[in-house]
Amino acid sequence: MSALPPAVIWHDLECGSYTADLSLWRELADDAPGPLLDVGAGTGRVALDLAARGHDVVALDADDELLAALHTRARAAGASVEAVRADAREMALGRSFALILVPMQTVQLLGGAPGRAAFLACARAHLSPGGLLAIAIADGREAILDEDGVVPEAPRPDVCELDGVVYTSHPLAVVDEGPAVRIERLREIAAPGRRAVVERDVIRLESLSAATLEQEGRMAGLAVRERRAVPETDEHVGSTVVMLGG
Ligand SMILES: C[S@@+](CC[C@H](N)C(=O)[O-])C[C@H]1O[C@@H](n2cnc3c(N)ncnc32)[C@H](O)[C@@H]1O
Repeated sequence: MSALPPAVIWHDLECGSYTADLSLWRELADDAPGPLLDVGAGTGRVALDLAARGHDVVALDADDELLAALHTRARAAGASVEAVRADAREMALGRSFALILVPMQTVQLLGGAPGRAAFLACARAHLSPGGLLAIAIADGREAILDEDGVVPEAPRPDVCELDGVVYTSHPLAVVDEGPAVRIERLREIAAPGRRAVVERDVIRLESLSAATLEQEGRMAGLAVRERRAVPETDEHVGSTVVMLGG
């Protein structure tokens, strides 16, 4: 078995290969006149990329195991990334940032409107004057029906092999529950000479439109700037990036 905790392996497998948003985060980071805060940084897909480009990055996540992997990878790469364990809805870091970015729909995991309001208030308190809060959201229902109302092809499973053990994440179902889209995966671990271990993973991605998030941003005292977009790929739906100014 791998020395990596299963949470890290699955996170890397299911999120780590996504690159469609990186050019936008790089552009925003290059324009930011100060440090960056990556909210829900996971194992550092975005934070490590931006740090490697010379940015001063703080990576915040609620998950200790993911942050430990991020920290190890930053050290191995000689990158300076400060990893902070905190709930984004309660963060109090005592410093401010020119850019706060929230990639990959993390804002749709915060517990609905009350959780987002708490996060937006915290984010505002951490923005430098003129700073920018950029939040990616996606409509999970696009994985059920595309814009022409057609059911898209089932995405391929994500597969990796570590120390002879094969980890496979099979997309199983995407179900519109109204307030959220339920995304189900079957995670399979196959080690040589052993029965495969299979477990079901369920994530609920809260339904959220850009207009709603912008209105919530206004209520939190933030100014609404022009939205940006991350294009869809063969494997991933596109995102809208809501831009809120301090
Ligand atoms: C979809 S992953 C995105 C990971 C990474 N940003 C990326 O783009 O690859 C969502 C991340 O948000 C973190 N997260 C979820 N709720 C959080 C919260 N309330 N506060 C801080 N982090 C949270 C999870 O632990 C997870 O690492």
